Amino acid sequence: MKNNRLCSSALRAAFVALAALALPAAVVAEEPVKIGLILPMSGPFASTGKEIEAAVRVYQKTHGDSVAGRKVEVILKDDGGVQPDQTKRLAQELATKDRVQVIAGFGLTPLAMAAAPIATQAKLPMVVMAAATSIIPTKSPYIVRTGFTLPQVTAPLADWALAHKELKIGSVVTLVSDYGPGIDAEKTFVKRFSAGGGKIVESLRAPLQNPDFAPFLQRIKDARPDAVFIFVPSGVGTAVMKQFAERGLDKAGIRLIATGDLTDDNEMENIGAAANGVVTSFHYSAAHDSPENKAYVAEMAKLGVRANFHSVGGYDGMHVIYEALRKTGGDSNGDKLLAAMKGLSWMSVRGPVTLDAETRDMIQNVYIRRVENVKGVWSNVEFDKVEMFKDPGTQ
Ligand code: PHB
Repeated sequence: MKNNRLCSSALRAAFVALAALALPAAVVAEEPVKIGLILPMSGPFASTGKEIEAAVRVYQKTHGDSVAGRKVEVILKDDGGVQPDQTKRLAQELATKDRVQVIAGFGLTPLAMAAAPIATQAKLPMVVMAAATSIIPTKSPYIVRTGFTLPQVTAPLADWALAHKELKIGSVVTLVSDYGPGIDAEKTFVKRFSAGGGKIVESLRAPLQNPDFAPFLQRIKDARPDAVFIFVPSGVGTAVMKQFAERGLDKAGIRLIATGDLTDDNEMENIGAAANGVVTSFHYSAAHDSPENKAYVAEMAKLGVRANFHSVGGYDGMHVIYEALRKTGGDSNGDKLLAAMKGLSWMSVRGPVTLDAETRDMIQNVYIRRVENVKGVWSNVEFDKVEMFKDPGTQ
């Protein structure tokens, strides 16, 4: 009896001690998960930042601001879009001062490359939502990418041009922005198109900063290829499209084909009829016909933004973070989150996707689209697709 009582009071004491120990853990569990979101909110690529920020807001509005018992807090930083050092400094600050559990965003390739070592050092998952040079995820084992790669969207376009003999695209000049994604696009198009028997007349590269496309377009007009293949990053498409029409390349019978960055949905209102009939390849169109996408586009419109592909990289980036937290039961340890992200599959607003566990890039449909005016709205209308296509890289 006495022993029993002793035993039970000892037990009670043990329980009290355990409860005290458990208390800080419970408090910790209720702390928010912080995402450091670094985007170009100003400067020449501000449209990318605005699209992704809106998508993140839409995600939290439609999925709630907490998951697995943890509130999700987004800390937004503007890197201006053109200075890799600035992006790196912001990533460092978010990791050490703000003590975030995930870094995300990254509007352009050089910015993602600059932040990669911080993700590795701090053991933080880095969700690349926009930057699209193939090599990026190899720069840190902590990177996952929820957008696309240039080789991934370029290869199906080269194949499409080769397959449709009636279009008579036998010779092509390539014109790309002279940095990572442009070089990826050029290499992929040249390799694939030549291997299939097509002729590359010339490969031109325009500077990324303040480009003047007029001399390049004039040179293409003089070279008289059957078609020109173009990659420019989003934000630059309007200038290219207007100059293409002004220089009369279309009238000279030179067909324009491009990755969908050129006919960015965000810019279609400005580009307008100058892009009528242009064929592009891409992983997302605001006109993608699915109930998920219609709902998404409507939510984005409420924020005054026409959804584009970068926004979808942001929206799906949030999905990956939320689903990983759900799988870990709210544990925000970097290695555990990363492991939970790898291999996720879901129905995105762009169509079905898988985050490849091995490459940490998206496996997704690549659509061939044509610019058309649909009920007064210039749209990229999908008419063909390659299903669940993996980044082929540039090798
Ligand atoms: C990039 O810098 O990786 C990038 C930016 C915008 C695009 C595509 C690629 O539309």
